Amino acid sequence: MDSRLTLVVSVVMGCLVLTVRGDGHLSNSTGSSDFTFLSVQPLTGVFNRTGCGVSKLCVEQPTECNPATNGTCAFVSSALSSVNGTDIAFELRGESTGYIALLLSPDSQQGNDKAYVCANSNNSVILTTALFNNSALTPDNTLPVSGALGSVSGNIIRCSFVASGLNATASSARSADTSFFVSFATGSFSNGVLGSPAVQLLSNRSLDLTNASSNASPSSAPTAPPTTAGGSALLHPALQGLVLLSMLILRLF
Ligand SMILES: *[C@@H]1O[C@H](CO)[C@@H](O)[C@H](O)[C@H]1NC(C)=O
Ligand SMILES: *[C@@H]1O[C@H](CO)[C@@H](O)[C@H](O)[C@H]1NC(C)=O
Ligand SMILES: *[C@@H]1O[C@H](CO)[C@@H](O)[C@H](O)[C@H]1NC(C)=O
Ligand SMILES: *[C@@H]1O[C@H](CO)[C@@H](O)[C@H](O)[C@H]1NC(C)=O
Ligand SMILES: *[C@@H]1O[C@H](CO)[C@@H](O)[C@H](O)[C@H]1NC(C)=O
Ligand SMILES: *[C@@H]1O[C@H](CO)[C@@H](O)[C@H](O)[C@H]1NC(C)=O
Ligand SMILES: *[C@@H]1O[C@H](CO)[C@@H](O)[C@H](O)[C@H]1NC(C)=O
Ligand SMILES: *[C@@H]1O[C@H](CO)[C@@H](O)[C@H](O)[C@H]1NC(C)=O
Ligand SMILES: *[C@@H]1O[C@H](CO)[C@@H](O)[C@H](O)[C@H]1NC(C)=O
Repeated sequence: MDSRLTLVVSVVMGCLVLTVRGDGHLSNSTGSSDFTFLSVQPLTGVFNRTGCGVSKLCVEQPTECNPATNGTCAFVSSALSSVNGTDIAFELRGESTGYIALLLSPDSQQGNDKAYVCANSNNSVILTTALFNNSALTPDNTLPVSGALGSVSGNIIRCSFVASGLNATASSARSADTSFFVSFATGSFSNGVLGSPAVQLLSNRSLDLTNASSNASPSSAPTAPPTTAGGSALLHPALQGLVLLSMLILRLF
């Protein structure tokens, strides 16, 4: 595969983690135990930042954190994996004893967003797809996924997969629209039930998952110093407030 055609959007999330608290019981009322999980092949080795901004789009928190290490790092990468522009390879890495999830939204509203969930099942990764509707994940088995790999190391979950059929455009004639607001979430997972997701990382604008430098700030070149690379598009203050608010709400339960 031509690496230039391969866009990896890596979203690393981590520092805000309150971890999952108190949301296990919420999930019962959502009746969300109807998820169909795919077992995935073991991910051997770890992915890293090589290619970020060049051959893959990386979104992470804290800024520039390396998904290959054991430190705090919430990371998502994306890479175009087919010439028709709708198959996109993702890498996810984050800390959770339950699950980590990639959320893709065509707009800044959270509703009916696509979710790709990698869960720790007895120290193996299993994967499911879902809709993220306001605060809950609901099963959606219509999102094609292939080539999934995963590993669990302590509380670190890593997974990679190829998603097909991503198309953010609802009304345009463009051949494929691969631009989404990118979020990362964690939640609890037990007895097949996914707890409510705590969103930890949000891009403050739509990012083209097939453009390795689409999160570069307008004023800086793709080869800008490390301090401006990965996290530049993260957490607009208003969205940060939303995240904190949602965390507060979770804690009330
Ligand atoms: C969750 O719902 C199931 C089925 O309604 C019920 O049997 C179970 O006791 C509930 N669990 C909790 C923790 O409420
Ligand atoms: C990153 O991962 C790639 C692919 O596994 C590997 O070839 C490369 O040496 C790694 N880079 C670093 C800095 O570890
Ligand atoms: C990360 O933790 C795992 C499990 O404890 C260990 O095997 C591995 O060597 C650690 N890696 C680094 C880079 O410290
Ligand atoms: C894109 O290409 C892949 C592989 O060639 C194919 O499996 C997939 O169905 C194609 N997707 C669309 C939307 O044409
Ligand atoms: C988890 O793994 C342990 C040790 O291999 C095994 O005894 C246990 O049955 C497994 N639990 C599930 C739910 O698979
Ligand atoms: C999502 O939420 C909206 C508004 O609450 C509701 O109308 C819709 O049916 C929900 N969709 C799913 C798939 O749950
Ligand atoms: C994306 O969606 C738009 C609007 O539904 C459609 O016109 C376009 O053909 C779609 N692109 C792909 C590659 O499916
Ligand atoms: C990728 O994104 C950057 C930053 O938004 C933009 O300047 C550049 O034109 C984009 N490249 C392509 C091929 O769309
Ligand atoms: C997104 O956040 C970055 C870094 O905080 C900021 O430079 C940029 O102006 C923001 N973009 C928008 C559209 O708010």
